[in-house]
Amino acid sequence: MSFRARGSRPLLAAVASAAALGCDGPQSSLEPAGRDAAHIAELFWLMTIGAVVIWVVVVALALHALYAKRERDEKTVDRLVVIGGAVIPTVLLAALLVYGLAMLPGVLARAPEGSPEIHVVGEQYWWRVRYPDGEGGTFETANELHLPVDVPVELRLEASDVIHSFWIPSLAGKMDMIPGRVTRLRVEPTRTGNFRGACAEYCGTSHAWMAFAVVVEPREDFERWLAAQARPAARPSDDRALAGASLFLSQGCGACHAVRGTPADGTIGPDLTHVGGRRTIGAGRVATSASALRRWVAEPDALKPGVHMPAFAMLEDDELAALAAYLEGLR
Ligand code: CUA
Repeated sequence: MSFRARGSRPLLAAVASAAALGCDGPQSSLEPAGRDAAHIAELFWLMTIGAVVIWVVVVALALHALYAKRERDEKTVDRLVVIGGAVIPTVLLAALLVYGLAMLPGVLARAPEGSPEIHVVGEQYWWRVRYPDGEGGTFETANELHLPVDVPVELRLEASDVIHSFWIPSLAGKMDMIPGRVTRLRVEPTRTGNFRGACAEYCGTSHAWMAFAVVVEPREDFERWLAAQARPAARPSDDRALAGASLFLSQGCGACHAVRGTPADGTIGPDLTHVGGRRTIGAGRVATSASALRRWVAEPDALKPGVHMPAFAMLEDDELAALAAYLEGLR
């Protein structure tokens, strides 16, 4: 490709590289890592290329009309209007409709009978996730989804308060989570990796901070992770963490949070049984670390405006440190 105007080259290069940079990463529907995302990306590219071709033809015709020397006879003009204005758009739009509709059943299909089912509930502003424990029951975790590669998984989606929308752009389309209703989404990751999901429906002050980590891993790694997550919490390993564990109970944290294997069995907030092993806290807000946990407990609202968790700013520094040590040790 050559461009006449030399001055436009750096600009075009800048635009192209910015566009390319914006199209990859852990949250891109244009770099699909799932079966349905691949279909959606295919449709996107087909429509984009089609739109560009049509735009070029229309602009070329417009320029031709502006600069053409020769007058056309009326019959030719009429024919051009009918063909260009009615026949071609009808044929193209009908073809696109058939192509799009033919794709729909595949994208909306349920996962095959017997596929693993994961239950995700949208909350203001985090994700409650329930996995089967392998013994007919379920256990709960939050804000992180692990999926086996090349296995279709059925996601059962609900909302507890307002409408949220569940979206992992790299893996599949988005699906609304509606209070009082169950919606379903099949995901079938086609390669391993770390991805990012997000809420795609405005749901309140911290809608923009409602994200989650998605880890797609080989089946054996997934099974190992699942078995570890199903186990009750690890016992605190040192004095500081032990002090944190008793503070957790005495401060009433257990009224909202569960730590399986301890008396804490609240269900209002995220299950914290393995919170220290998650990649982020606050639903994708900050990377997990003792200092981040400490800050979260002291002033959650500063990290996440509108969060329902009250601040525990009245705790002394050493108490906050003990609580953070305990939580960080819950791997
Ligand atoms: Cu939940 Cu936006």
